[in-house]
Amino acid sequence: MKVFVTYRIPEIGLRELKKRFEVFVNEKDELLKKEEIIELARDADALITLLADTIDREVIDNLKNLKIIANYAVGYNNIDVDYAKQKGILVTNTPDVLTETTADLAWALLLSVARRIVEADKFVREGKFKGWRPELLLGDDVFGKTLGVIGFGRIGQAVAKRALGFNMKVLYYSRTRKSEELERRLNATYVSLEELLKSSDFITIHTPLTKETYHLIDRKEFEIMKDGSYLINTSRGPVVNEKELVNALKSGKIKGAALDVFENEPEVTSELLQMDNVVLAPHIGSASVETREKMALMVVENVIAALDGLRPPNLVPELKLS
Ligand code: NAP
Ligand code: GLV
Ligand code: GLV
Repeated sequence: MKVFVTYRIPEIGLRELKKRFEVFVNEKDELLKKEEIIELARDADALITLLADTIDREVIDNLKNLKIIANYAVGYNNIDVDYAKQKGILVTNTPDVLTETTADLAWALLLSVARRIVEADKFVREGKFKGWRPELLLGDDVFGKTLGVIGFGRIGQAVAKRALGFNMKVLYYSRTRKSEELERRLNATYVSLEELLKSSDFITIHTPLTKETYHLIDRKEFEIMKDGSYLINTSRGPVVNEKELVNALKSGKIKGAALDVFENEPEVTSELLQMDNVVLAPHIGSASVETREKMALMVVENVIAALDGLRPPNLVPELKLS
């Protein structure tokens, strides 16, 4: 059986795969275009994809032998899951193994933007550091402030857990309210989105990208936000209207933003590149050596199960229902 991998993943995963199957890996440093995936993976039984590969009807219709699309990511908005399901093709993702790593990154961004770490680093490198000064690079305190978590799933909760150490008040908004036991353990209060926007000093987004969450944070939501608050986004770019984010930063409505994801990745709205109160990262939420290896093993485990005719352990929720 044939497995097509759209981009190199850590060797540890590929090694396992090669023991069992004929494996074709795109060795180029660039993402494949849709037509290239269709051409190169034409007779593949399994497809291992990155979050930037668009796997739509056209791709699915052209890969006649396909049994599984195994995404090397937890988010799977790049795949037309409904259509895959209709065609009897399995779709899997890589949950859990990247939760803590991504939560760490969200916190790294939060602290960086609040304490102006990127500006400070640049300042030192440019030889501007002339000694301690009472009012040099003043930021905002994080300790004791209010954190608003939008999307209280695995990563959102892991971010909230870290806030306990910062003695923060945690508000959360999610599709479904969590158990009282969990709320107590994380010292988190369920509120409406409006209440969260109004009351939080730091807002961090952890929903998936779906029809419902597209532009969840738009002009109206920025207007409701507390003056001088900060926005951190490590979910998916299109959850935030990036134009409105620029407007909110320009007007001073919000004081800063820290972004790991962008609306038109890998493009970044040019104004953001000019702003010192914005911290930017190139979608590195799960980027630790350990986690990327675990994701590679997980993706392979799913492919092996599917090609052995078994139920893969990490079917996406839409497929688990059936
Ligand atoms: P998860 O456990 O499924 O959590 C997502 C949460 O969002 C769930 O609690 C979910 O609903 C809630 N939600 C869904 N739709 C909503 C809506 N319309 N309004 C409000 N809340 C909604 O997923 P996860 O593992 O934490 O990952 C979350 C997302 O992070 C992924 O989908 C991915 O896009 C992104 N991600 C990014 C990186 C990165 O590198 N930056 C790394 C990993 C993941 P309930 O309230 O019903 O539970
Ligand atoms: C990364 O963004 C992921 O969804 O795993
Ligand atoms: C700062 O370095 C201080 O000692 O207050």
